Amino acid sequence: MSDLLWQKPGVAVDARIQSFLAGDDVLLDREFFACDIAASRVHAQGLRRIGMLSGDELSALERELDALAEDFRSGAFVLDERYEDGHSAIEARLVERLGEAGKKLHAGRSRNDQVLVATRLWLKEKIQRVAMLAREVATVALDRAEAEATLPMPGYTHLQRAVVSSAGMWWAGWAEAFIDDARRAIDTRNLIDANPLGTAAGYGVNLPLDREFTTEALGFARMQVSPACAQLSRGKFELAALEALGSAMLDLRRLAWDLSLFASAEFGFIALPAKYTTGSSIMPNKRNPDVIELMRATYASVAAAKAEIEQLLSLPSGYHRDLQVSKGALFHGFGKGLAALALLPDLLRKLDWKPEAMRNALEPSMYAADLAVDLAKQGVPFRDAYKQAADPARWSEGDPRASLAARVSPGAAGDLRLGELRRRLEAIAR
Ligand code: ARG
Repeated sequence: MSDLLWQKPGVAVDARIQSFLAGDDVLLDREFFACDIAASRVHAQGLRRIGMLSGDELSALERELDALAEDFRSGAFVLDERYEDGHSAIEARLVERLGEAGKKLHAGRSRNDQVLVATRLWLKEKIQRVAMLAREVATVALDRAEAEATLPMPGYTHLQRAVVSSAGMWWAGWAEAFIDDARRAIDTRNLIDANPLGTAAGYGVNLPLDREFTTEALGFARMQVSPACAQLSRGKFELAALEALGSAMLDLRRLAWDLSLFASAEFGFIALPAKYTTGSSIMPNKRNPDVIELMRATYASVAAAKAEIEQLLSLPSGYHRDLQVSKGALFHGFGKGLAALALLPDLLRKLDWKPEAMRNALEPSMYAADLAVDLAKQGVPFRDAYKQAADPARWSEGDPRASLAARVSPGAAGDLRLGELRRRLEAIAR
């Protein structure tokens, strides 16, 4: 291992204890290593602005940081157990290549603000991706709601056939849900969009760091003012991001549930695109909806990540090593969540309805509620109309197929207000 940044002379390092301390931390740091390098570059620029580095030293640091980023991307540099963590690896490499200048970079920063800034930069990008994927899902759902506004489909409550509805109604529900998820992700991105660099170990530092400069150079909307709060926010902003992701995952879980029911022979409402199904090792006849099942399972990973971070935050203020554990949870949750969400737009686009089966699932009883309302419109007090409409003999008056047009045509009870949803969708900036 490279020298530990904090090693004391005369205190031997115990390999077993070091390995416990390190865990998989350095490997996790691969995930945001590029962000850590980018923030290190801006920190160096900031040091130059207050005279802590010469122009030549800054140029050399910038050159070597760029080279490290490139080598990491290409695989020429591997971040592994040779280093305690990604932060130490950056410094080790700079010292190896540049000597003195490399040793100067850490002035005015701590790994505590270093990990915070790398995580926030990484997370801003990931949560933006959640927003854009949710937006894309909503777009597919809305396009299909428009195209299939009058395709009849049973509406269920308690999984029991309830009323005559439409595929358009079903799609519009998902469109609005994912529009809300996209907006929530964007709100959360705004919450996270604050720069912790310069807060050092959580108590600031006796250097006139140009925090306005680093905030702007790193593309943050604002700075985290209080160094103490920068530490208090660790875990909390990751939790907020997982909650926003979790909101989309909850919708995905329910959507996947619908699809797995609809794909069963008992419903038979949809044909899943073949590439989204798998087979059985023993039953040659099977086509299994494994993809939607794994999509449904993804919420468990996100919920587990949230739970782990929430448990970690049972701490007094200030930095504690416990906080390191939040990284694994965050990366795992986002890795799973984004992978599932990324497949969803195409899956939804390619879904084929089986209109015959949907039509066959409509039965006269499903007109009862409409009939009661029709009677009320004619002046019968609703509770009396309800009692009259409860009589199966009257259901024949309302062939569900006939009532359908009234329910699903624009302007009638089933008006889907798709124009309003389209406006909301378009208001979500890319
Ligand atoms: N890997 C550490 C973390 O994620 C980096 C910060 C270490 N700071 C410290 N004071 N030991 O928290």
